[in-house]
Amino acid sequence: MPMKNHDIEEAWKYHEGTKHSYRSVHSNRHVLDWANQPLPFKVYPDIERIALPRDVPQAGVAALAAISAKVSAESGDAVPDLRDLARILFFSAGITRQRKYTGGEIYFRAAACTGALYEIELYVVTGDLKGLDAGVYHFNPADMSLGVLRKGDFRENLALATAMEPAVAQAPAMIACSGTYWRNAWKYQARTYRHFGWDNGTLLANMLAVSAASGLPAEIVLGFVDADVNRLLDLDTRREVSLCVVPVGRILKSSSPAPREVPPLGFATIPVSQRELEYPAMLEMHEASSLASTEEVAQWRERARRLSFSSSAAAGEEVALRPLPEDEQPSDTVEEVILRRGSTRTFDAAASMTMAQLSTILERATRGVPSDFLQTGAQLNDIYLIAHSVEGLAPGAYFFQRERKTLELLKAGNFRAEAYRLGLEQQLPADACVDVFFLADLNCILEAYGNRGYRAVQLEAGAIGGEMYLAAYALRLGASGLTFFDDEVVQFFSPHAKEKSAIFLLAIGKPLKRKAD
Ligand SMILES: Cc1cc2nc3c(=O)[nH]c(=O)nc-3n(C[C@H](O)[C@H](O)[C@H](O)COP(=O)(O)O)c2cc1C
Repeated sequence: MPMKNHDIEEAWKYHEGTKHSYRSVHSNRHVLDWANQPLPFKVYPDIERIALPRDVPQAGVAALAAISAKVSAESGDAVPDLRDLARILFFSAGITRQRKYTGGEIYFRAAACTGALYEIELYVVTGDLKGLDAGVYHFNPADMSLGVLRKGDFRENLALATAMEPAVAQAPAMIACSGTYWRNAWKYQARTYRHFGWDNGTLLANMLAVSAASGLPAEIVLGFVDADVNRLLDLDTRREVSLCVVPVGRILKSSSPAPREVPPLGFATIPVSQRELEYPAMLEMHEASSLASTEEVAQWRERARRLSFSSSAAAGEEVALRPLPEDEQPSDTVEEVILRRGSTRTFDAAASMTMAQLSTILERATRGVPSDFLQTGAQLNDIYLIAHSVEGLAPGAYFFQRERKTLELLKAGNFRAEAYRLGLEQQLPADACVDVFFLADLNCILEAYGNRGYRAVQLEAGAIGGEMYLAAYALRLGASGLTFFDDEVVQFFSPHAKEKSAIFLLAIGKPLKRKAD
């Protein structure tokens, strides 16, 4: 079988074909078909469901500590029970707010998601836990339940699919994330494949933080035989595909039973919409970034883990980060912060944030996302900023020298008008205190990781962006993910960024207080 993952023109074709430009956005005739609006939940009407506990106590760890915490291997076995799982699932993808609008009701979830369309589904693959029998389950946030897909211990199937990635092989439980194309493509068309990474990433930021707060190690595993995981979850892969696996907890002397047969289930689900449109570019991108055998997975991971990314020498004036001292950092728990998070709809353009706040956000959220595709502490995305109103930092465009923990000035000036334009002519990036742009050297990433690197870089951006969301809300600031005109972003930060590609954008600032507040 050809190793398609290394035919990297596929990722380039998808990336180029889904860029936003002033022209592509203004000439796009796509309109939202409200009568065919997708259902925000996957519902299996006929399967057995197990209610998850709703009164689970908080883990009680400060958000800023939780987003960058690593649970050390020395701490021995760490096994979640049903309450831990309920906490992790709820604070990753549960319904935290609801609001009526003319078309019905929006059920807002724990993590930010493009268009509030919530195309990411969660599945649990577990051995016997306190309160839950071994099985494969689908998480339904609508009624906080687990739908029973398979009974029995299927962890070894997942371990084999990941080529025995140690964190998976030792995990008492795992959460697999999938993406449902149409639920997001209804609005965003073929760009949804990028959103899979972003929206899965913000959710993973919560999942990793709440797992760590619960004393459970967790990481993002991106190397797996796609067909094997899809088969275990019984996904209809023209509509929904698995995106990553998160092992939760650790049993050092793991003894999961042999892999089991996984016959097709064919359970009915309520259709997402009356009619669905398929976007071939996304199916091709997914296929081209799929790994076909355990040998391919093992080679892919080994190569990925050997990679190191060199940092560039600073040419411009540098400003050192000045994070808040530990004893001045807010102690609000990660659960409290997730409950109050909600993307800012209007920033106060007259407000400012402090250099200490910005430094704390950058320093906490860029310590390296725990994963199977990076060396500890490494990062695929580079961070560029437009600072508008940060006390102690002159307005201008900056590059974040991550290892040196400095901001390198690229050009000084007031760039609110440029930020408005780059962020798809939206007011949010113009009125924020700072806009954080994620750019990456796709040439180098695809060369090293193949097309799978495209999934990795988008997912990592979403996860870091999700951590920045949490850090901002911990500091009583507001934030919003944003989309952007791809090539204009690169041009703005060039010549520094000239070989790079625009991946993600997050605006951070002070929410405008409404008069009634
Ligand atoms: C990656 C990403 C991109 C987003 N892009 C935009 C955007 O361009 N404009 C906007 O107003 N909101 C944007 N949002 C915010 C979403 O609309 C918001 O997350 C969603 O409505 C859910 O609401 P919540 O974040 O308040 O829970 C984005 C969110 C994410 C995660």
